[in-house]
Amino acid sequence: MVVTWTTLCPTKSTEVMYGEIELIDLARGSVKKFVDGGALKREIYIHRVFLKNLKPAKTYKYSCGNNNIWSKVYEFTTIKSGNDWSPRIVLIGDLGVENGRSLPFLIEDVKNKFYDILLHDAINNNARVGDEYMRRIEPIAANLPYMVCPGNHEYKYNFSNYDNRFSMINQADGTISNHFYSFDICPAHIISFSTEFYYFTKFGTGQLLTQYQWLENDLIEANKPKNRAERPWIITMGHRPMMCSNENGDDCTKKESRVRKRMPLTREYALEDLFFKYGVDISLWGHEHSFERLWPMYNMKVYNGSLEQPYKNPKAPIHIISGYAVSVISIEI
Ligand SMILES: [Fe+2]
Repeated sequence: MVVTWTTLCPTKSTEVMYGEIELIDLARGSVKKFVDGGALKREIYIHRVFLKNLKPAKTYKYSCGNNNIWSKVYEFTTIKSGNDWSPRIVLIGDLGVENGRSLPFLIEDVKNKFYDILLHDAINNNARVGDEYMRRIEPIAANLPYMVCPGNHEYKYNFSNYDNRFSMINQADGTISNHFYSFDICPAHIISFSTEFYYFTKFGTGQLLTQYQWLENDLIEANKPKNRAERPWIITMGHRPMMCSNENGDDCTKKESRVRKRMPLTREYALEDLFFKYGVDISLWGHEHSFERLWPMYNMKVYNGSLEQPYKNPKAPIHIISGYAVSVISIEI
């Protein structure tokens, strides 16, 4: 587990006190100064502490700070071990500072321990808006494993706020990798990746190749017989859907989306073939402020498992768009 927080000035140390009943253990971490790319050049200090050797399925209390100032006490429950249970995953897309109507319900659900983990795509987290956003999600993110992927809202200053404020761990090598990473939870292998590399090419295109190669290697590894037997579900999470039916100008509606089919000019890095080839079961998306669940789809054709049970042993990925966390009346950005 990684505990991350921000201070507006430097501190002497970065520490977390934690324990199952009392805060008897102490872990030390690191701090990094981050300068926002905006005109004010605001400085914030981002603290990270890795809590290692936690026991599975245990609730830990913790407080973060240093030997002078401590936060209030939060608590989280670690993921169970073994593969014969079903995780309770809450998926939210497009929850921002403005009009975040889902927030009170999510906070209440987390308090009542309804979920094991949260997957969130797209956060509007730049500069002061980012500070306010992080404050609002604190009751959730401080008490539940909070896994994110980047969306178009994060593009400012080359996604630097997103990059610096979060700490997603790629399980295979233990590195922080906020744009693309994967991890296992019970019978599922979950892969988070950036669809924004396909659209914000002004920040370069090299990351498209790096991510594509990483994705393929990760899928090959997940498909090794032992791994697929232990974790038969492969679930992807990205922001902009490959296909959708909303009435707007996004390329998932009427055109062949960049993520699904190809980049203009280079015609490379298309993910639909890759996900089909390696048997991805479910693709989770946001961006469209609506909910859609498609039949198993490949190349615009339905690949149902059978007439009676379309979702059982589907022959292509099932796409789920869940981008309505803002509210039903919000306007897509
Ligand atoms: Fe979006």
